[in-house]
Amino acid sequence: MSTPHQSEPARLGSNENLLGPSPKALEAVQDWVQRMHIYPVTEDAALTEKLVAHIGQGITADQIVLGNGSGDVLGVIMQAYLERDDEVVMATATFPLYKRVVADFRAKAIEIPVRPDYQIDIEAMLAAITPRTKLLFLCNPNNPTGIILNKAEMQDILDRTPKHVTVVVDEAYVDFADDPEYPNMMEFVNASYPVIMTRTFSKLYGLASLKAGFGFGSAERIAPVKAIRQVYESGLMMYHGAAAALSDEAHVVDTVEMAKAGRAYMYEQFDRLGLEYIPTQALFVTLKNLPIPAETIVAEALEDNVILRDTTVFGLPGHLRVSIGRIEDLERGFASLERILRKHGHYPTTE
Ligand SMILES: Cc1ncc(COP(=O)(O)O)c(C=O)c1O
Repeated sequence: MSTPHQSEPARLGSNENLLGPSPKALEAVQDWVQRMHIYPVTEDAALTEKLVAHIGQGITADQIVLGNGSGDVLGVIMQAYLERDDEVVMATATFPLYKRVVADFRAKAIEIPVRPDYQIDIEAMLAAITPRTKLLFLCNPNNPTGIILNKAEMQDILDRTPKHVTVVVDEAYVDFADDPEYPNMMEFVNASYPVIMTRTFSKLYGLASLKAGFGFGSAERIAPVKAIRQVYESGLMMYHGAAAALSDEAHVVDTVEMAKAGRAYMYEQFDRLGLEYIPTQALFVTLKNLPIPAETIVAEALEDNVILRDTTVFGLPGHLRVSIGRIEDLERGFASLERILRKHGHYPTTE
């Protein structure tokens, strides 16, 4: 049932977990769906306790907020912090949800272009902070560039951000970052920096349609976010499915392995096809200096039933994002890319 086949698209456009959901989560959801008529009374606290154990490092339940996906948590953070005409500093290119939700609150997104090497422009971001700035958004690893801010850079940003600003770090792809310099954000939380992280069950655990996510950070900065959550905001299936996924070690190992193998395979294939990419720490690889416009590639790949993503809406025109998947998904993607390159006369000739 969950195995994609040729008549289904090769889903390389949304960074889903193409291994499928955690089998333990699937089993839990199937069990609990029988009780769909019941309100989840204690489940919120139970999942929070599981996350306390999972995150460890001294975190307590009052430092964690749950939500219907991390996109939802990000929205509630903005609801808690933003008033009309407030300012929110963020990079461009980055995940477009921040800017969209900022507009919902009639606040102002101050977008700081990434540098030509795609690194976050730390100096320019800090310089953009004013007394009206309430939030500073960082996506780490960044979507759609796959670039990370390392521990020293994060330390620098947090040290130099004035205390009236809450720093929000979206760690949707944290589990795929294998750079040893990737920051452990709990160290900053424990050192009392005003920081909130968001994480999702949509990627590593394969639960994108269950809509499970959470935020964690300094208790003081999380409190206003927790205060506006609804009671019973998610269903039994979400709470139990997410809790089961957290203890599904085998699925986690398989997913990380898939991402690692997929990344290596993609680098090799992109090199073979003469396509330039930005090295990634996330669940996708983004192509730069394309020989054919990104929108043409996306449209023509659809003829092969392959979904790819043009990153223009992320503030990164002229680039193409390809999700990392299983080798069989990627093979379909590369067969399509190869066909498109040949059609447009850009297939590299071998001497
Ligand atoms: C950077 C980033 N943040 C947040 C999300 C939203 O995730 P969720 O499914 O938990 O709402 C995504 C989804 O692709 C993402 O790429």
